[in-house]
Amino acid sequence: MKIGIIGVGNMGSSILDGILEKKVIRKDNIFVFDIDKKKIRNLSVNILKSNREISEFSDIIIVAVKPKDAKNVFEEIKENLNSKKLIISIMAGIKIKNIEKIVGENIPIVRVMPNLNVKVKSGIIVYCYNKYGKKYEGFIKKIFLPIGIVIKMPEDKFDTITAICGSGPGFLFYIAEEFEKICIEKGISAQISNDLVSTLFFGTGKMLFETKIEPQKLKEMVSSPGGTTIAGLNIFEKEKFGYILRKAIEAAEERSKELSKD
Ligand SMILES: NC(=O)c1ccc[n+]([C@@H]2O[C@H](COP(=O)([O-])OP(=O)(O)OC[C@H]3O[C@@H](n4cnc5c(N)ncnc54)[C@H](OP(=O)(O)O)[C@@H]3O)[C@@H](O)[C@H]2O)c1
Repeated sequence: MKIGIIGVGNMGSSILDGILEKKVIRKDNIFVFDIDKKKIRNLSVNILKSNREISEFSDIIIVAVKPKDAKNVFEEIKENLNSKKLIISIMAGIKIKNIEKIVGENIPIVRVMPNLNVKVKSGIIVYCYNKYGKKYEGFIKKIFLPIGIVIKMPEDKFDTITAICGSGPGFLFYIAEEFEKICIEKGISAQISNDLVSTLFFGTGKMLFETKIEPQKLKEMVSSPGGTTIAGLNIFEKEKFGYILRKAIEAAEERSKELSKD
């Protein structure tokens, strides 16, 4: 299998790193193109001259440009596509039916929604496909497993997934930022505040991930009656933190729906 990546920015480069690290595909079968030459000039794979060339030489084409550039890319590559070439689109908000409108309905398409955490190989990668894409499912897992967990989900759940998994890191970074601000206000140095908060998030995530104990039980484990944690959690309840979080996720979900309409 020959694979081509169009757009080797944040996401494209993380996918490429995963493929190379786990040797999913041999280097000489990997092709890349990016209009920003700086992004590709030091790569150890085949650097092509255009998206058209990518579509000519690759069996699988990963499109990892910004959504605003999607139309141009699909217009450029559509002539070289056929029922044996797979398109993997990772662009947020671009529905399969809208890709089909440009490239045709007989082209295998897999839509993938990764999140930022693929950069540290702990991402969430959700995918769905059109009827011709199904046979590539095994391959999708192989490509994306090196950078995170890979989960199939119907396309109508993608707006929710975008809000929870796509925007989720942003929401948690916001909370981390608030923790850090408070540490600093209380006289702890910025460096130590950062170490404390990043380790707090890392360790808490690890507890959730490795123990598989439900968050509610873990919360109880750390909340002794009359203790400090319960005193703080009571404020969360009183000030309706859960409600605020729900509103934030729903706002992100709505925005994702609006963007998908364009
Ligand atoms: N970042 C995330 O957390 C995240 C999460 C889920 C999904 N996504 C999706 O992933 C996609 C890529 O995001 P990203 O953060 O990796 O973007 P990025 O860092 O900007 O990378 C995109 C690259 O594609 C290049 N490009 C633009 N037009 C092109 C064209 N016609 N042909 C070839 N290359 C072209 C860009 O060059 P220029 O910079 O010169 O334009 C840039 O180097 C987006 O569609 C986004 O929705 C991102």
